[in-house]
Amino acid sequence: MKLPVAELHVHLEGTLEPEMIMELAHKNGIALPYESLDDLRSRYEFTSLQSFLDLFYANMVVLCTAEDFTELTLAYLERAAASGVRHVELFFDPQAHTSRGLALGEVISGIRAGLAEGQTRFGISHQLIACFWRHAPASEAMELLIELVRDDHDIDGIGLDSSEVGFPPELFTEVFAYAREHGFRVVAHAGEEAGPDYIWQALDLLKVERVDHGIRCLDDPQLVKRLVAEQMPLTVCPLSNVRLRAVDTIEVHPLPHMLEAGLNVSIHSDDPAYFGGYLDANLAAVVNAFNLDIDTQAQLARNSFTATFLEAEAKVKLLAEVDTWLSAKK
Ligand code: HPA
Ligand code: ZN
Repeated sequence: MKLPVAELHVHLEGTLEPEMIMELAHKNGIALPYESLDDLRSRYEFTSLQSFLDLFYANMVVLCTAEDFTELTLAYLERAAASGVRHVELFFDPQAHTSRGLALGEVISGIRAGLAEGQTRFGISHQLIACFWRHAPASEAMELLIELVRDDHDIDGIGLDSSEVGFPPELFTEVFAYAREHGFRVVAHAGEEAGPDYIWQALDLLKVERVDHGIRCLDDPQLVKRLVAEQMPLTVCPLSNVRLRAVDTIEVHPLPHMLEAGLNVSIHSDDPAYFGGYLDANLAAVVNAFNLDIDTQAQLARNSFTATFLEAEAKVKLLAEVDTWLSAKK
């Protein structure tokens, strides 16, 4: 039995595998600048967050219809089920699709159809989080948010992603205030490449309920104290951090220091089709690098469930699955 976990940091578009990129391009008559699957694969070497984002945005143009989003969501959930995921709070980038002329309703209904079918087929519960692009103007995010509210689109929360350095959370203070007033749960990427000041802003100005990545918090002891005191969830993605050069190697990843400091961390996959593995591979990477014992592994899984936006009753059920896993291991 795989360790049961909640996946709280995965971008749907980051689960688009190279084979599916080629298939959808063919189906939708999209000309891609790659000669072959191998040529596409040869481009998966990144030097920074931006070098990844350039390829990530270029590839998602193959997603054209609601059915494409349903197919992608279901393919992800099948793989997630095999890696122990029991609940997912899925990110997607609306602007990546509306900027290409797709209707918001098409994108959301396509993803929702996949999530509903995945719940039946694989027993994975879900929430859906629309992430705003921090490299685009906050006014664009606000317009989109107003549309989400006005047309009553089925979204549980909002997040903030894309290029980090130079686009501080403070730019989105009003957008997040509006989102909170309208009942959305709120999360933001912060402290992936940029420093602790971005995490402070995410907490104080955006009033986030989870911080995505957050690994740079260790540069600021006062911030660590605050995050520990509040038990603020940090969704850490080890293979992403290595592949985007936020850390040099898995062996020097700050996870052990984060655990030692008492931070509320859990392990996630970010963009698994790009970074070499789904949630199970991310867990395996840190378990192997740091010899994490089964109690620590169980703690990481419990942290993932307590950090979800689920009701208490659902959390209790999922937490019990971790206890079952642990008893079977002992
Ligand atoms: N950081 C910021 N934006 C993203 C990421 C990430 O790791 N993945 C997809 N969009
Ligand atoms: Zn991310």
